[in-house]
Parts: sequence; C-alpha cells; structure tokens
Amino acid sequence: MHTVLNRGNAIVAYTLSVLACLTFCCFASTVFLDYGTQTDIQTVKVLVKNVPDYAASREHHDLGFLTFDLQANLTGLFNWNVKQLFLYLTAEYETKNNKLNQVVLWDKIIMRGENSVLKLKNMNTKYYFFDDGNGLKNNRNVTLTLSYNIIPNAGILPSFFGTGAHSFKFPAEYAVSPVQK
Ligand SMILES: *[C@@H]1O[C@H](CO)[C@@H](O)[C@H](O)[C@H]1NC(C)=O
Ligand SMILES: *[C@@H]1O[C@H](CO)[C@@H](O)[C@H](O)[C@H]1NC(C)=O
Repeated sequence: MHTVLNRGNAIVAYTLSVLACLTFCCFASTVFLDYGTQTDIQTVKVLVKNVPDYAASREHHDLGFLTFDLQANLTGLFNWNVKQLFLYLTAEYETKNNKLNQVVLWDKIIMRGENSVLKLKNMNTKYYFFDDGNGLKNNRNVTLTLSYNIIPNAGILPSFFGTGAHSFKFPAEYAVSPVQK
C-alpha cells in the first residue's frame, strides 16, 4: 500500500540519484580533457634593487622589478564544466639557500563569457618580488610560468601549467634610481 508520503519519498530519492549521476557524468566527461595551452611570456624591463626589508628585520634584501608581455588563447579551456579560470604568474629560481623559490607575481580571474584571449603588453607585477636574501642580483635563471586553476561547475580539477615558460636573468648590478611606479 502506497501512501502519498511514500510516493513522495520515492520521487525525491529517484530525483536525487539522477542528479548525482548527472553531476558525476558532467565531472567525468571533462576530467580527462587536456587543459594544456600555449602561452607566450616575455619580459620587457628587468631590474633589481637592494632595499631594507622592514617586515623581517633591518637587513637589506633583493627586490626585483619587471614588466612583462603575456599572450595566451584560453578559449579552448572553457567547456561546459568550466565556471571560471584563476590564472597566476609565478617566478621560480634557485638560490644558495633554497633549491626552489617560488613567488607569485600576478594573477587574474576570467569568468565564463569574458574575453579569454589575452594580449597583455608591458604589464606591471601585482605583487612584490622579494627574495629573503640576496638571491636575485645576478641570478642567471629565473623562470616565469603561467599556471591556472580551473574552477568547474562539478567535481574538482587540479592545477595546470601553460607550456611556453620564459627564463630571464637579473642584472649583475643593483639599480640606484628611485623606485619607479
Ligand atoms: C583561440 O582559440 C580558439 C579555439 O580554441 C579559436 O577558435 C580562436 O580563433 C582563437 N583565437 C585567436 C585570437 O587566436
Ligand atoms: C632554468 O631553470 C629551469 C627550472 O626552473 C630549468 O628547467 C632550466 O633548464 C634552467 N635553465 C638553465 C639554462 O639552467
């Protein structure tokens, strides 16, 4: 004998399992897609200064300044399970103290439907490029990489890296002119 309540329960349970299944399919249909994309990064102006790091101590630490060009066509990353992209530009370099230093210099969110073809020229970094010592001056290999987190409608997706990292050198001398910008 089915009461109204029993029927209601059955419908709700059925609906929920259909929804769960659809959500999973949505996730599964996109989780194995290749989210790699070609990026083109160039540095325009690079200099390094030696400034007091008041946050840590009175010691002088290296502070890098750079402007960069960035081109990437991220249109291909937007499929039906992508809500937004979180892009970030990191610098990686080695110093005497640390095998791997990573600093996030810039980031950007692209919502679904926004322009996802980037043609950025002469951009300033958003965040300070501070080293915790003197590891920037005369550093011969600093690598810039564009990474992105894909924020999906359903499920989780890991971070990805654009191919086409750019390596540059810092000058062997500190810049003495006043800090620009
Ligand atoms: C970006 O890529 C999409 C396909 O992934 C292509 O249709 C479009 O023409 C590209 N845009 C530019 C400006 O290269
Ligand atoms: C520069 O560092 C990157 C990793 O950060 C490495 O892949 C690359 O081979 C290095 N290049 C040189 C010339 O040492």
